[in-house]
Amino acid sequence: MHISSTAPAPFPWERTLFDPPAVFADHREHEPIRPLLYPDGEIGWLVTTHDLVRQVLGDARFTMTKPARVVGETFILPAGGDSVRAAFSDVMAPMRAGTFINMDAPDHTRFRRALGGRFSPKQVGGLADVIEAIVAERLDAMATSPHPFEFVEGFAVPVALRTICHVLGLPVRPEWHEISVLMEVDPPIDVELLGQYSRFLEAMTADVHALRDQPNDGVLSMLLHSGDFTEEEIIGLGQFLVIAGHHTTSNMMSLGALVLQQDRSHWDAVVADPDSLSATIEELVRYITVLQLAPFTRTATEDVAIGGVLVRAGERVQVSALSANRDAAFFSNPDRFEPGRDTAGHVAFGYGIHQCLGQHLARLELRIVFTRLVERFPDLRPAVPVDELVTYPGWYPGHGVQELPVVWGSDAEGENS
Ligand code: HEM
Repeated sequence: MHISSTAPAPFPWERTLFDPPAVFADHREHEPIRPLLYPDGEIGWLVTTHDLVRQVLGDARFTMTKPARVVGETFILPAGGDSVRAAFSDVMAPMRAGTFINMDAPDHTRFRRALGGRFSPKQVGGLADVIEAIVAERLDAMATSPHPFEFVEGFAVPVALRTICHVLGLPVRPEWHEISVLMEVDPPIDVELLGQYSRFLEAMTADVHALRDQPNDGVLSMLLHSGDFTEEEIIGLGQFLVIAGHHTTSNMMSLGALVLQQDRSHWDAVVADPDSLSATIEELVRYITVLQLAPFTRTATEDVAIGGVLVRAGERVQVSALSANRDAAFFSNPDRFEPGRDTAGHVAFGYGIHQCLGQHLARLELRIVFTRLVERFPDLRPAVPVDELVTYPGWYPGHGVQELPVVWGSDAEGENS
């Protein structure tokens, strides 16, 4: 068994707006599983090829449960002091009770079984009218707003947030998004984040308590009244799903618009033929791979031989779905955005038992958003050169632009395309 002598790659790394770090191509070719240096000094493994990424994600010997030292630490608080880390870990305990992505079977299975029906393609299809109404309201607001219009805050986040709140049966609260925004600042740590998290927890606790006496049709109420979950689990689940269910999707809306506008022919093709959108969206999902880091961390529960190296029990393995989706051994011309290509097998929604619960909802949202957006604003453009856009820091779990000013109509003439 090969024990790598390569110097560990430092983590985190920076991707460009649309592409993985260039060095990943070299890793895929020469050392598809290689040592990785985490910010806390621990040495783990980085996996970059499509076949090895799927092997790790599909192998039950890699656990999703996180050692206490890792929770809220490596990714959310990379530079934090020990006391802040400990406080954050404590304060996050209620979220962990329902964050089933960090569980293995059978705990994970219990949540996934209870939720699967509500996120099936059929059930999700029934949400189309609600999402259409949410999108129409935002597009109306956009149409009467001054230029440039801030697309992330004014469109993408509210559409994604209102949709997931409808599904969960929660009121739309600023706290649901504020916690995500605070995680975007760099450096991220301080007591402000802890205070923000406490407000997020208080709001969720109050809303779940209210469901006891006032049930509704939402997912959280259904699980609460099933009697199969504790109130603490529902509160944790609400926190997890409200973040997982809006931040990825809203980032996809902004980055998706940008990718289509980078080469104007892609945008114009959708304007001319909205029926082509389903294939275009799946390619956007592959090409952007918006979820780039955590939760893609697994820990070996026993010694595992993989890709010619021995991963020892207790070692952390970081897979890069973005790199896997750009693996030329799996996709031809992987760095090219090619709407209509065969995208089967992409891992942007993960792979194995933790594959994204909300993928059908995400696809539906994106299809409605882009259908109506190109219909209403066929000449929409970014108001600034794309290299001036600010992305989240490299350690942030998801990829996205923090702001996206856009213009249309006569203001779009002469703007950057
Ligand atoms: C384009 C948007 C989205 C992308 C790219 C995305 C991506 C992912 C990925 C890659 C995973 C697996 C992570 C891993 O295995 O470590 C995942 C899991 C998950 N996603 Fe999404 N997601 C999106 C939208 C949503 C939405 C709208 C929801 C709404 C509920 C959602 C809920 C979840 C949940 C609950 C899990 C954990 C599943 C499990 O552990 O069984 N996601 N997502």
